[in-house]
Amino acid sequence: RSTRFYDFKIQTMRVTKLCNSNEIVTVNNMFPGPVVYAQEDDRVIVKVTNQSPYNATIHWHGVRQRLSCWFDGPSYITQCPIQPGQTFTYEFTLVQQKGTFFWHAHVSWLRGTVYGALIVYPKTGVPYPFKHPHEEHIIILGEYWLQDVVQLERQVLASGGAPPPANAYTINGHPGPNYNCSVNDVYKIDVVPGKTYLLRLINAGLNMENFFAIANHKLTIVEADAEYTKPFVTDRVMLGPGQTMNVLVTADQPTAKYSIAMGPYMSAQNVSFQNISAISYFQYLGAMPNSLSFPAKLPNFNDNLAVKTVMDGLRSLNPVQVPKEIDSNLFVTIGLNVQKCQSKTPQQNCQGVNNGVMAASMNNISFIKPSVSVLEAYYKKIDGHFTEDFPGAPLKFYDFVNGAPNNIPNDTQSMNGTRTKILEYGTRVQIILQDTGTLTTENHPIHLHGYSFYVVGYGTGNYNPQTVNFNLVDPPYMNTIGVPVGGWAAIRFTADNPGVWFMHCHFDIHQSWGLGTVLIVKNGKGELETLPHPPADLPKC
Ligand code: C2O
Repeated sequence: RSTRFYDFKIQTMRVTKLCNSNEIVTVNNMFPGPVVYAQEDDRVIVKVTNQSPYNATIHWHGVRQRLSCWFDGPSYITQCPIQPGQTFTYEFTLVQQKGTFFWHAHVSWLRGTVYGALIVYPKTGVPYPFKHPHEEHIIILGEYWLQDVVQLERQVLASGGAPPPANAYTINGHPGPNYNCSVNDVYKIDVVPGKTYLLRLINAGLNMENFFAIANHKLTIVEADAEYTKPFVTDRVMLGPGQTMNVLVTADQPTAKYSIAMGPYMSAQNVSFQNISAISYFQYLGAMPNSLSFPAKLPNFNDNLAVKTVMDGLRSLNPVQVPKEIDSNLFVTIGLNVQKCQSKTPQQNCQGVNNGVMAASMNNISFIKPSVSVLEAYYKKIDGHFTEDFPGAPLKFYDFVNGAPNNIPNDTQSMNGTRTKILEYGTRVQIILQDTGTLTTENHPIHLHGYSFYVVGYGTGNYNPQTVNFNLVDPPYMNTIGVPVGGWAAIRFTADNPGVWFMHCHFDIHQSWGLGTVLIVKNGKGELETLPHPPADLPKC
């Protein structure tokens, strides 16, 4: 096992995109930021120095942080932010983990520009469970704003309304030829005819789920959320923010230039977004560089069936350890609503998070981040920062199939709070995530820190225990699940990693509106079941 050292300097950099020159916050003057490479079971040490004007933290998305919750990164959940001018060193071991991960800032909307890939190879001598590809490429899907993303969040929250659409979608930071001034701001993969390539896809976007396809080429999914899957052949895939996926693609078409396209999947109604694709090129050796490319076909932005088809194709390759018995069964509604306002101007003094008119919630509780981290408050037994009463079922339930949004109940309010759910070490947990909401239903990418979970079932409409048929044989093992629009998903895991773990919607706008909760997993008995002391350089609030 080796140790990998990285030095991250979070700093502002001037970039020119979409005919505009802007300052953005990035790491080490790169956009996207540097790739962290490691092997399974390696130790990773990243010294993060914040030279930006904003508070920062880094989260290692998908890394389970076995007994290292202090280094997980979500602000006010496991640590206070690294303030401008300060340093914090993240140290963790990739215990039995390999595959495509990413890292991103986890404070305000900073991850809009502060993100990069984390690639973990198998141990030396351990092959992939498929033919070794000729080459590997990292493909990060993103969103780009001409405005500073930290200011953007403040503005959106102050306005009380929905966020404006991104100015562009990007592939590895490049918008491509569908956007102004971007004909040359385009990513390209040169391929040798006949060879097979492994593409490591990451959706690092803030608020959009995205389809991805390559003109005239099939994609074979072999990994999702850094766990191997049975090979599944498809024309396109969909990734929500926070999801990663490895696909194989073989250059088996006539020598030419082919478009790679990434475009929106939007299941909500009446939401404005960019219905444009970011384009890259998959260019065969020997093709005329200036030739026109074959266009890639993406599904319609609201093609729910295309999403289900990809979802149905995800099956664990390796034997699974799904809990068969359940000790703690949670039913969690996720949804959006409009809050009551106390003042005449509807934009001010409303009862939503940040006094806004909008609220998002789990079981009708909008999560409020405390002023010290939940982990620190829990560990040091500092009173008054959180409660232990996150409800195991919704306080109110809106039945979408039979009523709303056309038939909205009178009391649609959610409550604000920092309510957590306490789990004894070793608890076998099932969570039914049910989409609801009084404004619109939509597919929500729900992410759990500290664990991967088995997705044992999902469907449209309301969850009905009488009719479900769970897959306990080969369910995918994921960390972010796109809960189907107006539908539900069932996840299972064993709570054997002590710590304080955020579970939230990976749309940043929903996180800002309170769509999240915290699971606190208590220590077990021995040293191997106990969270160590906090590191000495843990930032202070
Ligand atoms: Cu990728 Cu809590 O985040």
